[in-house]
Amino acid sequence: MRKIMIAGNWKMYKNVSEAVALVEGLKERVGDTGAVEVVVAPPFTAMTAVHHALKGSGIRLSAQNLYHETEGAYTGEVSPEMVRDTGCRYVILGHSERRRIFGESNETVNRKVRSALDVGLSPILCVGESLSEREEGKTMDVVGDQLRKGLAGVADQEMARIVIAYEPIWAIGTGKTATPEQANEVHSHIRNLLSEIYDTEVAARTRILYGGSVKPANARELMGCSDIDGALVGGASLTAESFAEIVLAGTPS
Ligand code: PGA
Repeated sequence: MRKIMIAGNWKMYKNVSEAVALVEGLKERVGDTGAVEVVVAPPFTAMTAVHHALKGSGIRLSAQNLYHETEGAYTGEVSPEMVRDTGCRYVILGHSERRRIFGESNETVNRKVRSALDVGLSPILCVGESLSEREEGKTMDVVGDQLRKGLAGVADQEMARIVIAYEPIWAIGTGKTATPEQANEVHSHIRNLLSEIYDTEVAARTRILYGGSVKPANARELMGCSDIDGALVGGASLTAESFAEIVLAGTPS
């Protein structure tokens, strides 16, 4: 059985005191949910404070990025080991904002995935097509390419630590959500690809989250789909009320 994961990607929002206040609100509402894995991804500047604030709760910590080198003269970057040292279990990699704004290629994303695995982190690997790619009928090819290249060199047994997030770019921060059918179609394509690249066991075990304008109003229907194993939430993860409602929507009854 795949455990539902609800992850909040805070992006470049929340200073330290705001971050701690948000975590306190979350702990009250969803701090001891065992049925769902709840994850928050604050900005690096709030990571240590959030780590401390999360103590005693079941909520887990994720980073939003890392740099693949171990250490060195890389001004402004944060290494995999440094990320792990902050108490993170997860790291979001290949987010479309990183690909688009910061020019990360599939090869860069793959280096990051492998360096995260090397230090014991669990990558949340994001894939997803743009609006024009969808309109041109290229969704499955684009997503397939991102998946194969992002996972290059990742061994079968390491797949136990990989989470995939399907985030159609046209649905991120736009208020436009993929319909549950549109999302599930891509999710089952990803699962089929995983059984081609690995085997059916890996495919059946790997969690595939949906992301892109997930909110309390659409979360239940999305997560009711057979191949959707949770959500990667941006905007709606920034208040404890809406994020907790999404967690509740994902909680098996
Ligand atoms: P959104 O962002 O929920 O605000 O659309 C999702 C994401 O970018 O992970």
